[in-house]
Amino acid sequence: MDRIRITGGRPLTGEIPIGGAKNAALPLMAASLLTPETLTLVNLPSVADIHAMANLLAELGVKTEKDADARSIAMTGDAVSETTAPYDIVRKMRASVLVLGPLLARFGKARVSLPGGCAIGTRPVDLHLKALEQMGATIELAGGYIDAHVDGRLKGAHILFPSITVGGTENILMAAALAEGETVIANAAREPEVTDLACCLQAMGAQITGIGSDTLHVTGVDALKSATHNIVPDRIETGTYAVAAAITGGDVLLKHAEMASNEAVFGHLMRAGVDVTETDDGIRIARKNGRIRGVDVMTEPYPGFPTDMQAQFMALLTLAEGASMITESIFENRFMHVPELLRMGADINVHGASAIVRGVKKLSGAPVMATDLRASVSLVLAGLAADGVTEVNRVYHLDRGYECIEQKLAACGAEIERVPE
Ligand code: UD1
Repeated sequence: MDRIRITGGRPLTGEIPIGGAKNAALPLMAASLLTPETLTLVNLPSVADIHAMANLLAELGVKTEKDADARSIAMTGDAVSETTAPYDIVRKMRASVLVLGPLLARFGKARVSLPGGCAIGTRPVDLHLKALEQMGATIELAGGYIDAHVDGRLKGAHILFPSITVGGTENILMAAALAEGETVIANAAREPEVTDLACCLQAMGAQITGIGSDTLHVTGVDALKSATHNIVPDRIETGTYAVAAAITGGDVLLKHAEMASNEAVFGHLMRAGVDVTETDDGIRIARKNGRIRGVDVMTEPYPGFPTDMQAQFMALLTLAEGASMITESIFENRFMHVPELLRMGADINVHGASAIVRGVKKLSGAPVMATDLRASVSLVLAGLAADGVTEVNRVYHLDRGYECIEQKLAACGAEIERVPE
């Protein structure tokens, strides 16, 4: 397996282009199942999860045409012949479960492998299933699969999610778009990726109000039509490279990045002593003076601090002046990066869902590995600042969500390379 080798200690300077959001693109691609007409997505990131979703859709019979230069994909679902999402694809990418709502809404049946656990927790999909049952679906779990069907169309319902779920909100939003009557989704996730999906569905002819709020009203329509949609910039890629600039004491322009979807992350960076400036074509991140200051972080649903930025921020805070408390409130097992950061010289104590990070003056390079995407990238960030050489193993985790990460960092002066096995 490939490794990433980094020789740390170089401040990053220059520009990093931010791509389209992976977590917006995945549900948007699943939305192509809702219509026989063509859905075109522009600003598609080229990362492994997106290729996996394209494969899954192709397996179901969606015709996909990619244009690498235009970074777009055109998906036409007029000949969908299959309604099963097999284990082999779902086990590699949990977001495959996002085909459940659209398949059920348009074809009245869907069979999707149960995603099972993953490195950061058990991650059940019970809330997706309960909501679909409320909409009239019959759901059985057998042989590791979710078997769902409905006689006729799904029916609009009042769904109150007992806790906020991004994927659950997206699945139900897509299902409700083609259901009979009105669906209310209360305690809905407000993540920018949910909003992006709702805007795209509107462009396809869906009737949705309350977009961006925690209560979505959807009046089902008989059919959706073709649309072209521009995917929002990736706020997690933005935050990750913002930390890269900050942790190395650099000065980087994140091109196409947006402030509005990232206020919690930028707010914390500013409190830690990092300069964050909005420019005409992106956001500039600079840390010129002194050490980072410790800040407390608590992950929360949007607009709170994103769990997908927790590991990266922890890497930054290992080098801060003073102590920081990081509390993870979304996933139960999301401190897998801690033992690896300790091996690089960090001082971190985990107590249940919280970690106390006492800043050290320097980290030292080491061979490390992680078991999920954001934990892996946090080790890359630590390696950029550490003395000596860091080798991050299991690079396939990084490739799931970061496009050309070593090229983007190297272009700003990082000493980083991919070492093929
Ligand atoms: C999405 C993101 C992921 C991010 C997460 C939280 C995508 C493709 N992935 O994941 O990167 O970390 O949001 O911002 O967009 N839960 C249940 N039952 C359910 C559904 C969820 O108990 O039916 C729990 C989960 O285990 C978790 C919490 O709810 O503890 C939030 O999960 P959810 O918002 O659904 O995350 P995903 O949509 O899987």
